[in-house]
Amino acid sequence: MHYNLLKGKKGLIFGALDEKSIAWQTAQKIFSEGGQFVLTNTPIALRMGQLQTLGKACNAPVISADATNIEDIENLLDQTQDHFGGKIDFILHSIGMSPNVRKGRKDDNLNYNWMLKTLDISALSFHKIMQVAEKKDAINPWGSIVALSYIAAQRTFPDYADMAQAKAMLESIARSYGYRLAKNKKIRVNTISQSPSKTTAGQGIPGFDVFFDYAQKMSPLGNATAEDCANYIVLLFSDLSRMVTMQNLMHDGGFSATGITDELIQAIQS
Ligand SMILES: NC(=O)c1ccc[n+]([C@@H]2O[C@H](COP(=O)([O-])OP(=O)(O)OC[C@H]3O[C@@H](n4cnc5c(N)ncnc54)[C@H](O)[C@@H]3O)[C@@H](O)[C@H]2O)c1
Repeated sequence: MHYNLLKGKKGLIFGALDEKSIAWQTAQKIFSEGGQFVLTNTPIALRMGQLQTLGKACNAPVISADATNIEDIENLLDQTQDHFGGKIDFILHSIGMSPNVRKGRKDDNLNYNWMLKTLDISALSFHKIMQVAEKKDAINPWGSIVALSYIAAQRTFPDYADMAQAKAMLESIARSYGYRLAKNKKIRVNTISQSPSKTTAGQGIPGFDVFFDYAQKMSPLGNATAEDCANYIVLLFSDLSRMVTMQNLMHDGGFSATGITDELIQAIQS
């Protein structure tokens, strides 16, 4: 079912790697809701992934950019505005990577240079994108910016290592930059705290299958899928959520508000 919720809206989508990606699913939903966008990812992701296929299907240009590199972001925003002939209405930050998590390093054995990389890619990039966009005055009033977070920002999940600090920083950036953009430009900034989802980034976390199953049992509605998340992002990019800003929005089937469930009690008792 399509509602044309994003008719006339133009934007920029970071982080679609393959069809499992939250950003990929979101691009498809935005397209079916009448929105237009530019797709971007790192040069290596463009070489390895299938982003051109998505670009063709959605009539969207694909522009390479490392989201930690200010010059790349500047070029990207210039090219995006050239493509649309003006300002944009939404940005999706769907970016995350931790070398420590990839190598299975936990809190007693973090490589601090890698940790800085984690923070730069997964959190600071969000600040950089908004700062460049503000300097270039690239976003229309009532525009909407969304980044993807995870509940490890508030609660401990040992295998999530330094990504927990990255997500806490990401959510903090959404509040502080969200204040600025709301006051100065009437632009909204939110993070969505998503259920574990079977994507490349998700499945790169050691023990992912266990905490996917745990979250499934702990969520009265079950885990929210990447497609469910895409629908929620469409809502946040639409005019139906105009007064929502500076929030970390739980999108987790009820996980974050649940103490224990019958299913878990049964699993522990058996
Ligand atoms: N999958 C989950 O379980 C889950 C749960 C909650 C939140 N999230 C978050 O959702 C977001 C999207 O992840 P996903 O699950 O769709 O996985 P994904 O692996 O499909 O997407 C991660 C993306 O980040 C991109 N990226 C990495 N370094 C980059 C850089 N320097 N510049 C630009 N892009 C870069 C990758 O190329 C990739 O496209 C991430 O922020 C992730 O932490 C995922």
